[in-house]
Amino acid sequence: MNQQFRVIFKQNFVDNGIMVTVISGTNRKGSMTLQVALLCAKILKEKGEEVKVLDLFDLPHDFVFSALYGNKNAAFDSILDEYIYAADKLVVLSPEYNGGFSGVLKAFIDGWNPRMLRNQKIALVGVASGRSGNLRGLDYMTNVFHYLRLHVYPDKVPVSAVHTLGSDEGIHDASTKKVLDNMLSGFVAY
Ligand SMILES: Cc1cc2nc3c(=O)[nH]c(=O)nc-3n(C[C@H](O)[C@H](O)[C@H](O)COP(=O)(O)O)c2cc1C
Repeated sequence: MNQQFRVIFKQNFVDNGIMVTVISGTNRKGSMTLQVALLCAKILKEKGEEVKVLDLFDLPHDFVFSALYGNKNAAFDSILDEYIYAADKLVVLSPEYNGGFSGVLKAFIDGWNPRMLRNQKIALVGVASGRSGNLRGLDYMTNVFHYLRLHVYPDKVPVSAVHTLGSDEGIHDASTKKVLDNMLSGFVAY
């Protein structure tokens, strides 16, 4: 099979009807977590997956006051419908902020309706400028998602010293790409 035919074959026949949402778990402008999330999305697309990316910067900026605890916010609800409830699998990335996962991600999750979740499978990636790659945040996210009856993929990836791996224009580090590729290959089959 030549390369061109191989690409067409992949585009037409590897569609398994699964939709994966990749969530960049911060609203910080210039976020490195977003760059790692975009890399995950690219890798998943290369594997033939249908992928959507949700950058928490794109949430309604007042959602903490207008969309939680039963308050109705149509823009927030349509984001949940499209990116969370319709997804078969989620890849959730969180930066390490003060030794844990980000507050905006927890507030976003607090806006989910647990009855609309469908025991989705979920992969976790931590991103930090420090050495731990948000290991504590990965553990806490695991507890929260288990509480919501989601299936957390056991191979979680801590990305440490992220500023040495790329810039806010992209991640260029080959070994990070390889680790994420290995994890996502397993997650696609999970
Ligand atoms: C409020 C805040 C708290 C942070 N706390 C930590 C921390 O506890 N440990 C760490 O390694 N990096 C910490 N960082 C740095 C982030 O890990 C770093 O910015 C990294 O690039 C991931 O976050 P980003 O997606 O916002 O870029 C913190 C950054 C912010 C904005």
